[in-house]
Amino acid sequence: MKVKKAVIPAAGLGTRMLPATKAIPKELLPLLDKPVLQYIVEEAVAAGIEDILIITNRGKSAMEDYFDYVPDLQERLAADGKAELLAQVKNPADMANFYFLRQKETKGLGHAIWRAKSFVGDEPFAVLLGDDVMRAEVSVTRQLIDAAEKYGASCVGIKEVSDEAVAKYCSVEITALEERIYRVTDMVEKPVPEEKFSNFAILGRYVLSPGIFPILETLPPGRGGEIQLTDGLQRLCQVEPMVAKDFEGKRYDTGNLVGFLEATLAFALDHPETGAWLKGQLAMNR
Ligand code: UTP
Repeated sequence: MKVKKAVIPAAGLGTRMLPATKAIPKELLPLLDKPVLQYIVEEAVAAGIEDILIITNRGKSAMEDYFDYVPDLQERLAADGKAELLAQVKNPADMANFYFLRQKETKGLGHAIWRAKSFVGDEPFAVLLGDDVMRAEVSVTRQLIDAAEKYGASCVGIKEVSDEAVAKYCSVEITALEERIYRVTDMVEKPVPEEKFSNFAILGRYVLSPGIFPILETLPPGRGGEIQLTDGLQRLCQVEPMVAKDFEGKRYDTGNLVGFLEATLAFALDHPETGAWLKGQLAMNR
């Protein structure tokens, strides 16, 4: 099983980041000098993904522009001898084969993934949520693909989270297979305490079998009136093997203010132009 395709759902309304997201897709907000979406594409490419479908929406066409050439700008940078900047401007367009499809109606994550059906065809594929950024030594998507390949199963990326967080995400029922890998037998979206299986929640990364599509096709709306991917996965794990990888790395939800700031600070501490300055500022204010 070779996973060569990825889907990045990026069609959400981004209401938690308003008013900035009124005109700028949250996936293009910059973490330092690169937009959120570039970090996510880099993770996919590092996992061996070649074809990337971005599920987009009205008012988000800047995402297509970002993964394209800008001839006027590139000519100017070349003429000015700014080779490094030129490479940085061109590079996003060359990282993979990009495809874009509009969700048309913002009916939830499950609906966005269902729109990828004809792009995916009959192969397993990766899903990377467009606002979840990972910092990891080994691409988190690669970690999931390795587990999926080993067990011939779909794979979800999980982490143990607090009681408050599990109520906001989802809770999975798991049994251990080996260190950091579990069999998944059930799950529930945004559980109330009595519904919770465990404090392990799925956090933004999946490797899915195409068996998810017929399930999503007929899935009724769930929590919040949206077609929930978790509800589709809950059904998938009843009929096909599914494992969970407690992935190594840190995940940042850049779709809310605290998560966005946390990611900005983490990347800024490592960035050659800002790291030393930020460390100095933090030490001064201690
Ligand atoms: P979120 O729930 O985090 O995104 O969805 P949102 O709906 O944009 O957020 P708020 O609550 O309004 O601030 C997780 C991912 O799924 C995508 C989002 O773009 C995000 O990357 N998504 C969500 C879709 O592509 N379509 C949808 O209908 C919903």
